[in-house]
Amino acid sequence: MTVAEIFQTMEYGPAPESDAEARRWLASHREQQFGQFIDGVWTHPGKTFDVIDPSTAAVIARVSQGTKSEVDAAVAAARAALHAWKGLSGHGRARHLYALAREIQKHSRLFAVIESMDNGKSIRETRDLDIPLVARHFYHHAGWAQLFETEFTGYTAVGVIGQIIPWNFPLLMLAWKVAPALAAGNTVVLKPAEFTPLTALLFAEIAAEAGIPPGVLNVVTGDGETGKLIVDHPDVDKIAFTGSTEVGRIIRRATAGSGKKLSLELGGKSPFIVYDDADLDSVVEGVVDAIWFNQGQVCCAGSRLLVQEGIADRLVAKLRVRMEKLRIGKPLDKAIDMGAIVAPVQLDRIRGLVQRGVDDGATMWQPSWACPTDGYFYPPTLFTDVQPSSTIAQVEIFGPVLVTMTFRTPEESVALANNTPFGLAASIWTESINLALDIAPKIKAGVVWINSTNLFDASSGFGGYRESGFGREGGREGMWEYVKPERVGTGDAGHGNGESGARSSVAHTALNSGHLGRGSAGSHERGADGRRAGHVPPINRTPKLFIGGKQTRPDQGYVRGVQAPNGAHVGEVGEGNRKDIRNAVEAAHSAWTGWSKATGHTRGQILYYIGENLAARADEFARRIDAQTKCGEGDAGREVDASISRLFTYAAWADKYDGAVHNVPIRGVALAMNEPIGIMGIACPSERPLLGLVSLVAPAIAMGNTTVVVPSELHPLSATDFYSVLETSDVPAGVVNIVTGAKDALTRVLAEHDDVEAVWYFGGGAGVKMVEEASAVNMKRTWATWHRRDWLDARHGEGREFLREATQVKNIWVPYGE
Ligand code: NAI
Repeated sequence: MTVAEIFQTMEYGPAPESDAEARRWLASHREQQFGQFIDGVWTHPGKTFDVIDPSTAAVIARVSQGTKSEVDAAVAAARAALHAWKGLSGHGRARHLYALAREIQKHSRLFAVIESMDNGKSIRETRDLDIPLVARHFYHHAGWAQLFETEFTGYTAVGVIGQIIPWNFPLLMLAWKVAPALAAGNTVVLKPAEFTPLTALLFAEIAAEAGIPPGVLNVVTGDGETGKLIVDHPDVDKIAFTGSTEVGRIIRRATAGSGKKLSLELGGKSPFIVYDDADLDSVVEGVVDAIWFNQGQVCCAGSRLLVQEGIADRLVAKLRVRMEKLRIGKPLDKAIDMGAIVAPVQLDRIRGLVQRGVDDGATMWQPSWACPTDGYFYPPTLFTDVQPSSTIAQVEIFGPVLVTMTFRTPEESVALANNTPFGLAASIWTESINLALDIAPKIKAGVVWINSTNLFDASSGFGGYRESGFGREGGREGMWEYVKPERVGTGDAGHGNGESGARSSVAHTALNSGHLGRGSAGSHERGADGRRAGHVPPINRTPKLFIGGKQTRPDQGYVRGVQAPNGAHVGEVGEGNRKDIRNAVEAAHSAWTGWSKATGHTRGQILYYIGENLAARADEFARRIDAQTKCGEGDAGREVDASISRLFTYAAWADKYDGAVHNVPIRGVALAMNEPIGIMGIACPSERPLLGLVSLVAPAIAMGNTTVVVPSELHPLSATDFYSVLETSDVPAGVVNIVTGAKDALTRVLAEHDDVEAVWYFGGGAGVKMVEEASAVNMKRTWATWHRRDWLDARHGEGREFLREATQVKNIWVPYGE
């Protein structure tokens, strides 16, 4: 085509980027054959599989299927390198990360071309978005390495990190994981996706040339089997995974009870919400970026277009005009909008789901032009007349397919937006700042973009809620995923078995109706109030459960006896069951809206008031602790005093645990807001019956969560006394619910409950495993540990660690300017 002809038709001419340099690099590796990159050197290629260019279906390289011995070698190399890497000063690691950032920039064109060849995405995207963001991540995290000692005082690297990444942003996902891990002093075994391993291999080679010590970064290629070997490896301290929710769930279950730290960035079905005052031309460009960027193979793709009814027809008409002008073609052509789909299996999946949409009665529209036929291409696709509950409206298609639904009011838009099991990202389009900032906090998503979409930056955390996973990548919030507190626990509560020393006697007695389960019938022991009862029998009193602000009999009416360490009977509590937990969750649910919206000031006032009322009954609480634990009245008194102080601590924090305004490189800001997680299940440690409970419940409610609490199984009477303090302290009904009984059985119900968003568990290893496994049902967040803490010591028993676990960060991007 001549320039004159182009002027006639205004057609784009082809503008191909050269692949010569990329092919030279591939050829330099045993004629496109790669081994693993372990301990700073290449291994010999083993059993290999093809790497395909999706735009031509041609084989461009062969990489090795990682074996058990290779994964073992990689983990051993990472372990051997850990001590020295972690021991390097923050400044030392900063120099290394800075070198990596520089090398990425120097090789940016090579990376961009290889990424396009390997993945099928357009060079325009790899060149202008993926690779610059990769470099930005290494620069940003060079900064965190530099500031590590001052900004993460008291924290240290987690250890050897297994990182498993997907194929949609191969090098970018590597950067999101490797940069923070190395900055914090961890060493890494990374497995790229089987479809797209090449830029990770190039990166490993360049990193070694740039002086990263052997073993600090190891790359092992292979499919899910190799991934599984990394996940199951006993010497890996943390798994960081990005990929499908299905595999995320498998990994959650596989790591349960292993003590491995875990972060999961999973799928999404993100809403793109357009209100009737939005600038529709900007919206159209926004939609192009939301769903046709990277052929829609984006976890946070705006794949559900929710439009206010009055403008829907106009917007759909404009979209069709724009879609007709999109250009699809060779990824290395700089003038195309869309490249190829990564692999035939993904193409089949897209085709299958589109057919399903048609079969379900939705209206499908595609532009009139045809796709190239020599690779794996799929045209941009628009569905209208979509039912909110239909498959295409609910499942992640991971392709260039947009489904459209309409709403009438802002309330309806929120309901529709939240109507999936996911919670990764959302886009809000309106000219009204009031409406945008009113809606943003109501959307269940880790990232919200206002009048924009798919904005990312290393300084701003990215990650989801619910079935989109947990943990954040980027920014200070992302660094927390790669560190752990430096102090060691004060022993274990029994890894691998139940609660160590757990003794409890379950007396299946009808409530208040007999003496089964009592020790010496109470006449000469200290009674529940600690006074000698003499010859007059104590009043038969069995504390009930505390649900929805009311004292409630347990569903089955059974009680359990509570004994002191010397076997003396101290009292009885209700034996809660599955139904009681369900009722408690329902009560917590009812309280959620009001409590989560209460101001920090209000929540603080209530926590102070609980402290005040506890102080008024301090002696009585101390006597009760002593009666149950025989710790001595002095020690019991210290426990009560620490509990009062802890309530004051979280009253103080309630209006001070601020978010941040991230300094993102746009004209605008990203507001990182600490939000409550939702309904939390809390299983308290057996020791320190009052302080253990207060230390967990106070931060949870201070941050706006509502709670269902399973108190110490051994010494539950401090919890049942405590609810009478709650009753007199203006705590709204349902904010704290207390169900006594068998801790692990009750906690299992919480961990399996779909309406519980997080579970904390302090107890034995078997319980930790159970909680982590059961939580996979709705991928709820867990904080489960068998390490004992010294709860009396404020350095271990309170503070930011608890506040972080009680919140999730939502990043709201607000661009500004005309
Ligand atoms: P996947 O989740 O199977 O693969 C992601 C990574 O996990 C790859 O490196 C893979 O080798 C590894 N892997 C697979 N099974 C594993 C196991 N049992 N243990 C450890 N590692 C394992 O995703 P896949 O098959 O590539 O794509 C399937 C669907 O998942 C896509 O159609 C899409 O809907 C979704 N997906 C979502 C992504 C996201 O970022 N949200 C990314 C990739 C896929």
